[in-house]
Amino acid sequence: MSRRGLLTGGALAAGGAFAGVAGVTAIGDKQAEDRDDRLPEAVPVAAVGSTVEPFHGPRQAGVATDPQAHASFVALTLRAGIERAAAGRMLRLLTDDAARLTQGKPALADTEAELGLLPARLTVTFGFGPGLYRAAGVEDRRPASLAELPSFRIDRLQPAWSGGDLLLQICADDPITVAHAQRVLLKDSRPFATVRWVQQGFRRSPGVEPGGRTQRNLFGQLDGTANPRPGTPMDSAVWVPDGPAWLRDSTTLVVRRISMNLETWDLLGRADRELASGRRLDTGAPLTGTAEHDEPDFAATGPDGLTVIPDFSHLTRAHVTDDRLKILRRPYNYDGAPITEGHADSGLIFTSYQADISRQFLPIQRRLAERDLLNEWTTPIGSAVFAIPPGCPPGGWIGEQVLG
Ligand code: HEM
Repeated sequence: MSRRGLLTGGALAAGGAFAGVAGVTAIGDKQAEDRDDRLPEAVPVAAVGSTVEPFHGPRQAGVATDPQAHASFVALTLRAGIERAAAGRMLRLLTDDAARLTQGKPALADTEAELGLLPARLTVTFGFGPGLYRAAGVEDRRPASLAELPSFRIDRLQPAWSGGDLLLQICADDPITVAHAQRVLLKDSRPFATVRWVQQGFRRSPGVEPGGRTQRNLFGQLDGTANPRPGTPMDSAVWVPDGPAWLRDSTTLVVRRISMNLETWDLLGRADRELASGRRLDTGAPLTGTAEHDEPDFAATGPDGLTVIPDFSHLTRAHVTDDRLKILRRPYNYDGAPITEGHADSGLIFTSYQADISRQFLPIQRRLAERDLLNEWTTPIGSAVFAIPPGCPPGGWIGEQVLG
């Protein structure tokens, strides 16, 4: 079909044809690039736009993946009567969309095929809430630690930001790529589920600073320093190493929407801000060290006899020494329209991945809820838990080990 024919043809026909032509050029096929009928949009304009993250594999992408700049967390509620077979049909469809879009190919019958050509490291990660296992009648395949969190005295949870049967975690280095993937996935999920909440967040854009740097949250703190590093003990802390096929290579995700009161934080002097977190604002070094990755010395005392790192600092209360008990944090900042009288609606979409919620996440959250200086300026307003089932090979679908 000629380029003119493509552009004037019916939407469905065009979508299908684009999938064939543009998908190949998006991944840099020289032959296809030389063709007369290629679309201008199909030529990668910059490495950021054309970079692809693998979709297929034993583990889902979007967890160990170096965090992309933009994220949309979409929680869905299954429609009444959606049981095992229907949930499986939905996941086959959504897996197909994700497998194409993440590789820079438009989805089948994509009505905005041009928007599917720049993957910008797009990942789509599927999470199953406790309700999905109930609806599908597969509770024997629910990871044991996957249950609603107990309530904490610091919580001011709003139903509008909590719960969910299915999570679509969509991340990319470009917001249009995220928006398009979200649209396609929501369109295909509509017969099966309704939207419960959407949380959109951001980190530094690619190229703004050298790679490998720790991101800053809206309090200005380096956030992510003590995360387990890929390849090292991270594997056993984050991923379930063995067990039945529905469990092996899975993980769990806790999403907490935490509002941050920037107005009252602004009233603090720099030294007090550093005491609250236990780390310096400029370098991220612990108050007892000089470089970001120096080990904190919780026993060191100052001339006043008090510990240099306050006992109730976030660092002291959150610190985990046993590598197997660490959590992987992959937070995104959010910054909505000011709520009242110019007061910011800012905070953190806190996400934590771990093999076992009760063994790893809960003890940390309990210590923080009990006493953490940061609680003065932060308030959890949303909470949800999901299992991240194993990945799938080409031709497979996410969830097949659970629902198949
Ligand atoms: C808006 C809320 C929060 C803010 C602003 C925040 C900020 C920070 C900062 C600046 C650090 C030090 C640098 C680093 O290692 O990343 C840190 C460390 C940490 N945070 Fe948070 N945090 C928040 C909520 C939470 C929550 C809810 C949890 C878990 C329940 C948590 C768990 C941790 C852990 C485990 C560490 C590493 C401690 C270590 O082993 O050194 N944080 N956080």
